[in-house]
Amino acid sequence: MTGPELYRRAKKRIPGGTQLLSKRPEMFLPDEWPAYYSEARGVELVDLDGRRFVDMSFSAVGSCILGYADPDVNAAVKSAVDRGSMATLNCPEEAELADLLCELHPWAEMVRYTRCGGEAMAAAVRIARARSRKGTVVFCGYHGWQDWYLAANVGTSDALVGHLLPGLDPAGVPAQLAGTAIPFHYNDLAGFHAAVAKAGNDFGAVVMEPTRGVDPAPGFLETIRNVTRARGVPLVFDEVTAGWRLNTGGIHLRLAVTPDIAVFAKAISNGYPMSAIIGTGDTMQAAQETFVSSTYWTERIGPTAALATIRKHRALDAGPRLAAAGARVKKGWAEAARTAGLDITIAGMDPLARFTLNYPNAQAVRTLFTQEMLDLGYLASNSFYAMVAHTDEIIDRYLATVREVFALLKGVIEEGAVEKRLRGPVAHAGFYRLAQ
Ligand SMILES: Cc1ncc(COP(=O)(O)O)c(C=O)c1O
Repeated sequence: MTGPELYRRAKKRIPGGTQLLSKRPEMFLPDEWPAYYSEARGVELVDLDGRRFVDMSFSAVGSCILGYADPDVNAAVKSAVDRGSMATLNCPEEAELADLLCELHPWAEMVRYTRCGGEAMAAAVRIARARSRKGTVVFCGYHGWQDWYLAANVGTSDALVGHLLPGLDPAGVPAQLAGTAIPFHYNDLAGFHAAVAKAGNDFGAVVMEPTRGVDPAPGFLETIRNVTRARGVPLVFDEVTAGWRLNTGGIHLRLAVTPDIAVFAKAISNGYPMSAIIGTGDTMQAAQETFVSSTYWTERIGPTAALATIRKHRALDAGPRLAAAGARVKKGWAEAARTAGLDITIAGMDPLARFTLNYPNAQAVRTLFTQEMLDLGYLASNSFYAMVAHTDEIIDRYLATVREVFALLKGVIEEGAVEKRLRGPVAHAGFYRLAQ
């Protein structure tokens, strides 16, 4: 059975087809995206038909920062599996990892773990609320699927416009949570103050990414830090995606502001489920005053993978490598677009690069890019998440193909034939309910 065939079947069994919006084939190339892999190593994937692709897209949605099936991380994990990955007693790796995380982030004193990003954010918000003893969260950006976050969209559909994923449907989130999560936009201090005013006496936490592609305006983070400190409200930095991209640790280490809690997931364990909530002793002690506890948060593979990933990341000084890979791709996109006469805008921090196509039918053009790149052996979209395994040679070969495809796109756009050239439907751009 081919990947697209299996996916069509899976949609009848699995609502939404997959467990992650960003892995839906409809987000890339409906009907033709390979959908499933049989093997992944380095930057290469093999699909169910044995076709090989070089992944120049989301790199497992940013989780595999070193490369697929990294031999050092896998060796550590295999050893943990062989020695028993779960037992009645705790694994010592979780204490070792806590020391390493606090060594890398000297402001932090205590650590808790979960296994996924959104789950870690929910635990962080619980701890922050337990610390402040107040309920309303003022936030900016995307932080996962949980009720505390989707509460922002209860009773309104536009609270998340301008954030990473607008329009998330909060069906199933109790109406009583309306008003408990109040958004503000990045670099909008007036909006932040308005959100704090709206929270009033129940202002209980600020949750945000310290930065993600856009630099903080002078005074932006500092003001938020001052306000939260003055009000005794924890400041939580979500580093699930931005962390470990430019340096070994949270991206906030490059900024002048330290939070009360920082949350890591994805990149810390190169594809194995692991997430960490680090914080000051004062704030993290609040985890003792509430109930935050789960069986599989104690297994051994996650912390083992995190230790191996972080140590390799530090030994390689992976941050600058990832930034250089992303910068090379961005420069290549810009040159290819200029040569082809294609109108694109490039954005995002270097290791999380993306471009937008400045055409009224941009989504169709983007879908055509993915279709043509797939035909030439690449998983490609308008985003590139760098892995250490993306060497200069791999990037240069990809960019040669991008030059070809950008030239083709320009011609097809001029002929007005984009939709005609697509063999299937246009990709989805955001949250949609899927027809089966
Ligand atoms: C900033 C941020 N927070 C939280 C999450 C949720 O993480 P997960 O998908 O592991 O639940 C994501 C995922 O993309 C993210 O980018």
